[in-house]
Amino acid sequence: MGVFGLSWTSVVLSIAAGYLLIVLIQRYLKFRRKALILCKIPGLKTEFLFGNSRQMPGLNEEALKWMHDNCTERPKISSGWLGPFIPMVNIVHADTIKDILKSSAPKSRSLYGLVMSWLGEGLLVSNGEKWLRSRRLLTPAFHFDILKSYLEVKNRASDVLVGKIQAYADKNQYFEVFENTCMFSLDVILQCAFSYKSDCQTSKTNQPYVQAVSELNELLADRFFKFWLYPDFIYYLTSNGRRWKRACDLVHKVAENIIEERKHTLVSDTKKGKETKCKDFLGILLTARDEEGIGLSSAEIRNEVDTFLFEGHDTTTSGTSWTLYEIARHPEVQSALYKEINEVLEGRDNDNILWEDLPKLTYLTQVIKESLRLNPPVTFIQRVTNEPMVIEGYEIPEGTNMNIVIINILSNPTMWEDPLTFKPERFSPEHNDERDPFSYVPFSAGPRNCIGQNFAMNEMKTVIARILHRFHLELDPTHKVERQLAAVLKSKDGIMMKAIPREKL
Ligand code: HEM
Repeated sequence: MGVFGLSWTSVVLSIAAGYLLIVLIQRYLKFRRKALILCKIPGLKTEFLFGNSRQMPGLNEEALKWMHDNCTERPKISSGWLGPFIPMVNIVHADTIKDILKSSAPKSRSLYGLVMSWLGEGLLVSNGEKWLRSRRLLTPAFHFDILKSYLEVKNRASDVLVGKIQAYADKNQYFEVFENTCMFSLDVILQCAFSYKSDCQTSKTNQPYVQAVSELNELLADRFFKFWLYPDFIYYLTSNGRRWKRACDLVHKVAENIIEERKHTLVSDTKKGKETKCKDFLGILLTARDEEGIGLSSAEIRNEVDTFLFEGHDTTTSGTSWTLYEIARHPEVQSALYKEINEVLEGRDNDNILWEDLPKLTYLTQVIKESLRLNPPVTFIQRVTNEPMVIEGYEIPEGTNMNIVIINILSNPTMWEDPLTFKPERFSPEHNDERDPFSYVPFSAGPRNCIGQNFAMNEMKTVIARILHRFHLELDPTHKVERQLAAVLKSKDGIMMKAIPREKL
């Protein structure tokens, strides 16, 4: 018997229910306060239960137009609701992204939490001390001296791609751009980051990894708008969730193989008394020790390998492919580029791009920058406020998800004249000072900017210069090219292109 004739079990259950009720009421009041503050920010009308989550017309060109129109209507800041309980603030202007990108606001768990089962807490996803330690550890792998040594790899990988394009040209065939540049970029990152030599550009055996990454990309973009699939235990009950899990298992296996192979080389090098080559990214990870002599755990190493494998190839594939597309679409740009590349390579007996050539390819740099502006590989990123902020006079409570919509920032009509037109001259040196640096952020900005930015620019410049030196590019007029939103900007049905050898023009 317990109190007043009630059993102890009933007393304990009543106290627990009362406590739960108080917690729920407190949470609701906190949520309501936040909602009342955020509803002062202008935004689209919301739908009962769904908020704004059903208004985006897919992940296609139509959606991109819808996003651009919204940005034109509200060119600095707007609010949005993912279902009834997840408020978000969209920021699309240099003035509104600056403070958040400069701050220590962490990456949100609503977006980045969705990739945890794939990339774990690698550099892209982690926050706070963990992120700082990894960033410090990995920064030396992107030092100029190291980037310089990677140029040889990029030239050799370009030889293979140029050879493949030559084979299509010999048969007068169109080729799909994404597919070919993807294998090139994968070849480059495998060699530069992991000293892992593969024949991925010429053999079919690595396709499962690429297919799995492509699947993860699409599934991620789809899940983002379906807030009811956020809890893993619900997602894994769906067929898409099971596909996600299968694809994750496959990419993890690839990463584990790379690590095992490298560990093996490290051990045999040590036995032979050879100096260990540890300047690449995986070498740094495997040999790093903290003050107590403790290295990174196997899980931590695999998370970083997964992160770099993904970030290091899918983004540059998108950047290179869309730049080649814009070049083929604009014959006058293509002629000017050919002239520049020819001048830089004049008198050489091979097409190799040397380190000292890179700064001389100024027009090519402008063309790549303009293509990244119109077709940014990473279309949006997210942060969560870790303290109350005021942006454009609006109060933003702590714990609010902030969508930094890169693709809209880069074509915001209040910052870019004639924003949807391809004009590489925007980036000519005399215009550089006119622009707020936060208006051009394809690689993000601030302390969490892209660690691979220079690596990526060098790679894109090298391979594009090598292709254009040999070939004139033409698009297949019968093939419609459409952009598709995924974790990285893709092309819905690919980009079909023909390469005509210069000597045949
Ligand atoms: C055109 C190519 C690329 C573009 C447009 C791009 C874009 C970006 C963007 C926008 C971010 C910020 C992400 C966020 O805040 O969530 C980022 C971060 C990152 N990128 Fe890149 N990236 C490119 C190439 C690369 C390459 C080649 C590598 C590796 C070799 C790389 C590695 C990373 C990593 C590890 C981060 C996380 C950095 C951190 O949080 O400290 N990226 N990138």
